[in-house]
Amino acid sequence: MCGIVGYVGDKPALDVVMAGLSRLEYRGYDSAGIAVRTAAGELTVVRRAGKLANLREALDGTPSETLDGTMGIGHTRWATHGAPTDRNAHPHVDCTGAIAVVHNGTLENFTELRDGLEHRGHALASETDTEAVAHLIEERYAGDLAAAVREVCGDLDGSFVLVVTHRDEPDVVVGARRNLPLVLGLGDGENFLASDVTAFIAHTRSARVVEQDQVVTLRRDGVTVTDLAGSPVDGATFYVDWDTAAAEKAGYEYFMLKEIDEQPAAVRETVGGRLGPDGRLTLDELAMSDEDIQGLTQVVVVGCGSTYHSGLVAKYAIERWARLPVQVEIASEFRYRDPVLDRHTLVVAISQSGETADTLEAVRHARRLRAWVLAVSNTVGSSIARESDAAFYTRGGPEVAVASTKAVMTQLAAVYLVGLHLAHVRGFRDDDEVRSHFGDLAATPAQIADVLGRMDPVRKLAREIASHERVMFLGRHVGYPMALEGALKLKELAYVSAEGLPAGEIKHGPIALIEKGTPVVVIAPRHALTAKIVTNVQEIRARGARTIVIATDGDDSLAPHADHLIRIPDIKSLLSPMLTLVPMQVLSAEFAMARGLDIDQPRNLAKSVTVE
Ligand code: AGP
Repeated sequence: MCGIVGYVGDKPALDVVMAGLSRLEYRGYDSAGIAVRTAAGELTVVRRAGKLANLREALDGTPSETLDGTMGIGHTRWATHGAPTDRNAHPHVDCTGAIAVVHNGTLENFTELRDGLEHRGHALASETDTEAVAHLIEERYAGDLAAAVREVCGDLDGSFVLVVTHRDEPDVVVGARRNLPLVLGLGDGENFLASDVTAFIAHTRSARVVEQDQVVTLRRDGVTVTDLAGSPVDGATFYVDWDTAAAEKAGYEYFMLKEIDEQPAAVRETVGGRLGPDGRLTLDELAMSDEDIQGLTQVVVVGCGSTYHSGLVAKYAIERWARLPVQVEIASEFRYRDPVLDRHTLVVAISQSGETADTLEAVRHARRLRAWVLAVSNTVGSSIARESDAAFYTRGGPEVAVASTKAVMTQLAAVYLVGLHLAHVRGFRDDDEVRSHFGDLAATPAQIADVLGRMDPVRKLAREIASHERVMFLGRHVGYPMALEGALKLKELAYVSAEGLPAGEIKHGPIALIEKGTPVVVIAPRHALTAKIVTNVQEIRARGARTIVIATDGDDSLAPHADHLIRIPDIKSLLSPMLTLVPMQVLSAEFAMARGLDIDQPRNLAKSVTVE
């Protein structure tokens, strides 16, 4: 998820674009850049790795006459392809330097696009998918930038927002959008394009959303919006009555609520483009040869908090599909138990921030013991990613709220992909089976969106039980890690004594905690073990528990024993955590808000725990 700004008007583009980027820095901040079309007719591009302050410093050192134009574009990056370096920062230009492009999203066919361009003589300088677009536009440009952009969009697979300028069209900025947000700001003698309205509401509150596969031509005196065929399309203008803080949250009260709703898109970005035309998964970043994978004797997954729970799900998937023994370790405990690792061990280190000290030290220890270390992280170029042998990036976009939601969801998608890849290479799943499992995974964004649409009763229930100081979560099989995750969410958001347990364990002691009315969340998607869970639910209900059951559409096994039934769409049981996770996120957030708590910044917690 990156921040994009485009401007045409009478004000200095440098000032307008940089101010807009500073409003969007929360969308991505590992590098930034700007392109300004100067009064002298040149296109000046300045880019820097790191935060926006680094770009400002570079601009301060740039001769002012090279930045004096009134048309420009800018970008703050959340890297998905290519490390956060000056070279990979946007804007990217074509061979002639006349075309500058900024991009948000992931081009699933960028390898073949780059190969084709290099075959046709283009020299690409970065590791990014975006640079290919600048050269493709160069090839199609015949004096009409919007027309060239429309043609190129037809060649792109995946999600994108593009904003483009051409040195020879001083009064034009062109934008295009597929799957990711792009909004128009309509001013008086000036117009704007941006990832969200925060970038321009200081100048105008009249806005229009750019819809799917639309191309916008921005001029000082007006805008034209067309479809990919070039036919003009209408659209509604709206008035932005948010303040800037609300706009950064896209109108949500908290970032966490926004990030919960971003989960379908986040999973789509993580999974997109991962199945090649040959039916093989493209996990090149694993950087392990087939022989290395076939020689593996064990997998160890390390993580903390929510990422430990993702790791527990990885265990079920990898053991089921790849027939490899998997140990899942709390990172802060891992190296102190003197684990037995060797070069036939794959260690998977899961970390949203990529900076968690406990996990980083686990990575270092594993590498000292010659294990192969794969980082699964949401932050390109993070310490854990850099110190691992390989890194799988979850492309979830920045997660601002301390309580992890979309990062956990994309970690689940990532570990399923890793498990499938290991199974395929080790011969335990053939091409058709991999395609089938991948298809199930690729279908989850729509199913997650479906579950999100069913959450009003869960919010109502959360407010009803918000006075309780003890809540329990039960699950079996992959439901057990989700019980742990649900309990952690409630702990860290509402400061409640919440406990997650294997459902079968309740009778070995914890059932003593059940009193009349104790809320117990039971994660019970359709599964071979459902009958066992029915027994567990009967046990706790007989002792007064208020049973809140997450069950699959059409499965009424637990209906007679549920005080509250939360339904999810039917899904293969192994993938069910991608759906059962959502009601627990919503329940915990609403429960905490009912208590008047700040769910973005819970007490005592930090987004990244960089101390041991
Ligand atoms: C999750 O809601 C928590 N905020 C916390 O447990 C988190 O998952 C843990 O600190 C690991 O963080 P990381 O993913 O950045 O390594």
